[in-house]
Amino acid sequence: MTNFNEVIERKGTRSVKWDFADQLFKNDGILPMWVADMDFQVPDAVTNALQDRVSHGVFGYTMPDEDVKQTIVEWVSRQYDYQIEKDWIFYSPGVVPSLHMLVQALSEVGDHVLIQTPVYPPFYSVVKNHGRHIVKNQLDFDGERYTIDFDDFEKQIKDNQVSLFILCSPHNPVGRVWTKEELQKMADICLKHDVTILSDEIHADLVLGDHKHTSIASLSEEIDQATVTCYSPTKTFNLAGLQASYVTAKDKQKRKRLERQFHGQGINMLNTLGLTALEAAYKDGEPWLVNLRHTLEENVSYVRERLHNETDSIRVIEPEGTYLLWLDCRKLGLEHEDLKTFMQDQAKIGLNDGASFGEEGKGFMRMNIAAPKETIQEGVERLIRAVQSA
Ligand SMILES: Cc1ncc(COP(=O)(O)O)c(C=O)c1O
Repeated sequence: MTNFNEVIERKGTRSVKWDFADQLFKNDGILPMWVADMDFQVPDAVTNALQDRVSHGVFGYTMPDEDVKQTIVEWVSRQYDYQIEKDWIFYSPGVVPSLHMLVQALSEVGDHVLIQTPVYPPFYSVVKNHGRHIVKNQLDFDGERYTIDFDDFEKQIKDNQVSLFILCSPHNPVGRVWTKEELQKMADICLKHDVTILSDEIHADLVLGDHKHTSIASLSEEIDQATVTCYSPTKTFNLAGLQASYVTAKDKQKRKRLERQFHGQGINMLNTLGLTALEAAYKDGEPWLVNLRHTLEENVSYVRERLHNETDSIRVIEPEGTYLLWLDCRKLGLEHEDLKTFMQDQAKIGLNDGASFGEEGKGFMRMNIAAPKETIQEGVERLIRAVQSA
């Protein structure tokens, strides 16, 4: 059984988060609370399945078979109440590689692509790298919660003749789990203006409290036809290093395009261990996921209470999903570059730079709270001490 309180030494495993932190933050002794993976062990069922597979000792080409497809179909149905079919599934080493391929498959060079900012940094590069143009629908922020400005959403689409919308659902970094009503409104506008929806739902399983994830494609037959969705077990079950994800598309025409793009680039398999882990996690990982969600909820409460009790300068934007806390640090009164220096040199914690999510992220930092309590407490106390002695 995974002990979510156990501190596991990750240094020396070539961990991006731990082994590259000193290099990135240009300081020794940084406590890494940045890149989005977790400091927890995966479900035992996953480790056991991997050990069995490794002990076989032969690692030739592997392909997901009907059983794997069925496991995915059942997971999507059980978790998101969305009925997909086996032949709607495409495999990919990761959601970011998928986004790159899908932007190319679903839009043309010179097209305009809508994103909702601040947003996960690769949303910018997957558009720009392929000669498409970014159009922003900036999220509204009232100091506590982010919402969508639907008038602006439609205006941006109309004014720029947007052909593709990349939705981040749940949203990284602002932590929103979009409601059915919000998704319906966005989808209606997209249908009205013939905009294809590319929905990145990598955080779909990481919902907190009473929040429930809805896959935008599940809202109606018509929306399903207009949408291509990216899912993955890697964020949910801490398998990012195993690189396994998939894309689903109902519409035949879109599937043809995807086939040309994915197969045309030689991408139509899953690596052996990624495939093994995906199957084991989806079949036997649910009890672990329930415990993970409790742990994340407790960590959110802890960070919020400690920070809000000890300082007025940093506000935790209450996350509805993801394990990434968006911290409003504007009351510290620092220029953004000074804020980054403050976190790394005074607090000695490694956070993601808010401005990397877009201009709107200036004055904000992103903290990863998927770690044992001891690590979280250490990070929060470092931050409080630094703020109080500033
Ligand atoms: C919204 C979003 N999409 C994609 C990814 C990364 O996906 P992958 O590791 O499968 O490329 C992340 C990782 O944090 C993310 O937050």
